[in-house]
Parts: sequence; structure tokens; C-alpha cells
Amino acid sequence: MKGSEHLLTKENQNGIKMKSLLLDRNLALEAVRVTEIAAIASSFHMGRGNEKAADQSAVNAMRDFLNDLDINGKVVIGEGERDKAPMLYIGEMVGKGGINVDIALDPLEGTTITAHGGENALSVLAIGEEGSFLHAPDIYMQKVAYGYKYQDLEININDEPKKIINDFSKYSGIRQENIVVCVLDRIRHKKLISEIRATGARIKLIPDGDVSAVIATSIEDSGIDIYMGIGGSPEGVLAAAALRCLGGKIYTKLIYDSDESFKRAKNMGVLDKDKIYETNDLASGDVMFSATGVTDGTLLKGVRIKNDMAHTESVVMRSQTNTVRHIKAKHNLNIKKYRSYFK
Ligand code: FBP
Repeated sequence: MKGSEHLLTKENQNGIKMKSLLLDRNLALEAVRVTEIAAIASSFHMGRGNEKAADQSAVNAMRDFLNDLDINGKVVIGEGERDKAPMLYIGEMVGKGGINVDIALDPLEGTTITAHGGENALSVLAIGEEGSFLHAPDIYMQKVAYGYKYQDLEININDEPKKIINDFSKYSGIRQENIVVCVLDRIRHKKLISEIRATGARIKLIPDGDVSAVIATSIEDSGIDIYMGIGGSPEGVLAAAALRCLGGKIYTKLIYDSDESFKRAKNMGVLDKDKIYETNDLASGDVMFSATGVTDGTLLKGVRIKNDMAHTESVVMRSQTNTVRHIKAKHNLNIKKYRSYFK
């Protein structure tokens, strides 16, 4: 046993015994404290129309709480590239020292949602062994995802939506007209939307928040069967970390709108422009994922403030065991440690 890490003996596919590093399971509970504080801090800005303030509060709180963990953490998916984000930028080291881990985070996934008082804003954090997460630049990513029941279905993300929906329908036994595809409401999706509708399938259009939408494909009764479309690549990695724990599948491709964006990706280790990244390419090894609801959503209830108490709902899960824990907590906002975040 070394620090907060330990070794697990596993057999590989050829039956050879291998030692693999496992993250301390208690770290998962520490991760919840981090998303809880970020969610509470940003929730003070819920419905106030100020996206920047909501995001900044979440970033400040998440960063402080991450720096209190016994980890030597490297942010690999963060608020942006170093020159664009002063805090929690890609490459920033966080923690008090300890086990080496990679971190993917989004202190506030759904800044506009929060500012407008809409649905499905989350605070999100994933922690993995070093090298767990794709080092994705902050560019767009094409995504197709579906839930754990259908995770053995293989599709080709380059196929027309008609073929993908047909393949999904045959495999799942859900008639095409009963399939619900979730898509971000964006002009760039005009063609995609009409192609999906032409198959007879229905569309749930969302204003923002595709981490929550991808996760919803693996949640019983969420009303979403498939997620399709173009969103952020950091959100793709975070959603993949969640699917590693819940089951489910995501196929993705990075979208380069200029030579400059491919150059940025190349600098981060992406060599093949057309590579298709599946769930395990985005998040591999032992990963843990924590999310706390900022506003009400499919997955979690948002923060409720009652007098000086904040009530939060979180989910924390691990890929190693597929344990999924739902945690409801009450926080006393008069505690000094909390007060500085709520201005
Ligand atoms: P933010 O929280 O950073 O605003 O992201 C919200 C989001 O809707 C993501 O869920 C999604 O992946 C991305 O923005 C889509 O980007 P765009 O708004 O540029 O279409």
C-alpha cells in the first residue's frame, strides 16, 4: 500500500496476472464534497442572468476544495487552455500532494442554463489514474451515445442518422417511431434534425447541457434513447467517464474548423484527424465520477437554499465496481469555510 493507492491483481485476456493501480475508493466521497461546493456557489446566481458570475463562483469553490485533497492532481480537461483560462486550466496542478491522478472537470456545466434558471445544470468532476482521459482541446466534438442495455451494439458514427437509427431500432427492438433522440438546439443541427425526423423517430431538443443528456441515455425512464450531435469535446470526455461507471456507449469525432484547431489538438497528442474515439478511448482505466445538481434535471435535483441551509443532491460512481451512490446532503452556510463563496 502506497499513500492512498493500492494494487489489484487482475488477469488480462490471455490469463496473465497483472498488477493494476486502483484509486482509493474514499477519494470518490472527497470528490462529492468538491462538486457540492461548486454547485452551491454557482446556485446563488441561478436565474440572475449573469453567466460569468455563476461560472466564476463555481470555479473558485471547486479549485479551493480540490486544493484541499490529498492528491497530486493534473487537470487534463478543464476550463480551457492555459492562455485562455486563469484557473483550472489544462495542465494546472491541484491538491496538497499524494497519489498522482488526472482530473477532468466542469465546475458549472450549463452556465446559460443556470443564468436563465433552466434545467440540467451540473457541477462535474472525474478523477482517474494518470493517462485515463483523452487530452482533448476545447473544440467541438461529434457524438452518438446510447445506454447500458445496448452497449454491445456497434455503429459507425460516419453513417447517416437513418442507418444509425435503423441499427439501433433493430438491436433494441424499439420501433423507430418510438425512439427519442436528444439533440442540442443549434442551427448547425438543422440537417441532422430533419434527417432524424425523416426516420419517424422523435427529437428532444435541449438548449444546453449535453453531459446530462448523454448520461440520461443510461438512466432508466429518462425518456432519452440516443444522444446525437455536435457539442464540446471536454463535455464528451466527462460524459464518457460517467458511462464507464454506468455502462453505455459513446462514439465521438473531433471537429476541426480550421488548421489552427488541428494544430492545437496535435500539440495535445492527437495525431489522426479522422480518428473515432469510443468510450474507452475518452476515459480508460479506473475512473470515478461525481456530479451535483445545480438546477433541477433528469439526473438530479438542483440546489435548494432554505434560510441558512443548502440542500444538495449528488451522484458519485466508480468504474471499478460500477457502484452508483446518490447522496443527499444538508450544508450549514454559516460555517466560515463556506461563507466566502456566497457573495
Ligand atoms: P457551458 O456550460 O460551458 O456553457 O456548456 C454548455 C454546453 O451546452 C455543453 O453542454 C455543450 O457540449 C456545449 O455547451 C455546446 O457548445 P455551444 O453552446 O457552443 O453549441
